[in-house]
Amino acid sequence: MDFNTLVPAKTGLAGIDADALLVVVVGSKMPAALEGPLGMALSEAVSAGDFALKAGQLLYAHRVAGVKARRVAFVWAADAGAKALRRAVAAGVALVKSGGAGHMAVAVAGADAALADAAAEALVLAVHEATYVYRATKPSAQQPARLERVSLVCSVPEAATLGAGLARGEAVAAGVALARECANRPANHCTPSYLAEQAEKLGKSHGLKVEVLDRKDCERLGMGSFLAVAQGSEQPPKFIVMRWMGAGKDVAPLVLVGKGITFDTGGISIKPAAEMDEMKFDMGGAASVLGTMRAVAGAKAQVNLVGIIPACENMPSGRAIKPGDVVKSLSGQTIEILNTDAEGRLILCDALTYAERFKPAAVVDIATLTGACVIALGHHRSGLFSMDEELAGELLAAGDAALDPAWRMPLDDEYDEALKSNFADMANVGPRAGGAITAAMFLKRFTAKLRWAHLDVAGTAWRSGPHKGATGRPVALLSRWVLSKAAGPARAVKSGMSGKSGGARRAKKA
Ligand code: BES
Ligand code: MN
Ligand code: ZN
Repeated sequence: MDFNTLVPAKTGLAGIDADALLVVVVGSKMPAALEGPLGMALSEAVSAGDFALKAGQLLYAHRVAGVKARRVAFVWAADAGAKALRRAVAAGVALVKSGGAGHMAVAVAGADAALADAAAEALVLAVHEATYVYRATKPSAQQPARLERVSLVCSVPEAATLGAGLARGEAVAAGVALARECANRPANHCTPSYLAEQAEKLGKSHGLKVEVLDRKDCERLGMGSFLAVAQGSEQPPKFIVMRWMGAGKDVAPLVLVGKGITFDTGGISIKPAAEMDEMKFDMGGAASVLGTMRAVAGAKAQVNLVGIIPACENMPSGRAIKPGDVVKSLSGQTIEILNTDAEGRLILCDALTYAERFKPAAVVDIATLTGACVIALGHHRSGLFSMDEELAGELLAAGDAALDPAWRMPLDDEYDEALKSNFADMANVGPRAGGAITAAMFLKRFTAKLRWAHLDVAGTAWRSGPHKGATGRPVALLSRWVLSKAAGPARAVKSGMSGKSGGARRAKKA
């Protein structure tokens, strides 16, 4: 899909040559700027009671007299901000996509100020969200008639900013899509080796350095905690390290660490059968690291970014870890594994220690870590834990701006009591109460040398029920944060190998 800005000629919106024209009507007053046949069609619809300037309003019209676009859809939005626009565009795309429109123009009517680049970015993500279909293991799934081009109608002075927003949106959308594709894949396809292959593929297509450590390498390093989780499985573990060096060699990198449990049975502390299939999504953190690497590399951002993914399965078997087993982590600290289902923290702690070698500016780990976080925050906001005020503030702001919000959770020393063990430096679980926090407290014990934040995405990385599937979160949050750290303007280039020039992105006259 291609996105561009479009400055209408003298004939205005009515003269735009597209298969479909989506008019986002903003606010509670009839937009004064909407003149001619479109303005007439809208006021007629309003007087007839077919459209109102309020939430949830949609109107589809075919072949409006005097309008060049064959299909016209009106959709209401509260304002021209990213959030309202995303909702409106999602509804509008659902209206026109079944009609087989190949080229859709989107115009925002009634906004007081110029559109922001964040709004353009949100538009791209909304269109991708509304048209995504998982087909990798279900080729029969119906692909909606393909939207090939989306043009955002704007004025000449808006074109440069909005073009940049669209380009950034495309890079992020590609990252979100990659995360969803990986996480949606069933665990018999998406194994640790599969994740390693995806990383290597991404490295080749996007210029990342990729290194994959196998079991032997991890043994030599002393990753006793990671390997303990992996030992119950027939699938060999993979410890994946990806590097995007977009800034100077001596610029300290940002590091992302993603939990890559490709299936979590719980191990010997086995989970109940109901909904256990959803534990294929337990590599959602890893998927978001892959997706963010793709977004950042796709945007050719001038920033150094390292992605680390400890990947393995958590299985019960004759070789599996047992409750009470004590293992030694890469940090040298020993851990009593009281519950083999608290495996995420066991693989993350070694990855966090490994991250020290990059002398990072900051480290963020992303994990579908606890059911308790789902109870605390539901499915709207991810849990954010950090002792670093500045880092926490940046991540919260990035989440809000990218419509991928998080919520700060506490890390008081008092919670650490729960992890005391008589047989090791710490236990891997505390009592049920405050489970998301004790999980974070466990990770905190491995981050003394780091500026660190932890995102618990157990409630946000996938949806259950009839719309079961990966969301691609928090790629948008992470990408926005990383791109905000890039030197110079993030110049997005075409990702993949389409070989097309960026010319289509320049403002075009209709
Ligand atoms: N992957 C799960 C967390 C999870 C559970 C995410 C349900 C989303 C939905 C994690 O490995 C786990 O099993 N955590 C346990 C920890 C407990 C044993 C302390 C949990 O949350 O129940
Ligand atoms: Mn578990
Ligand atoms: Zn898990």
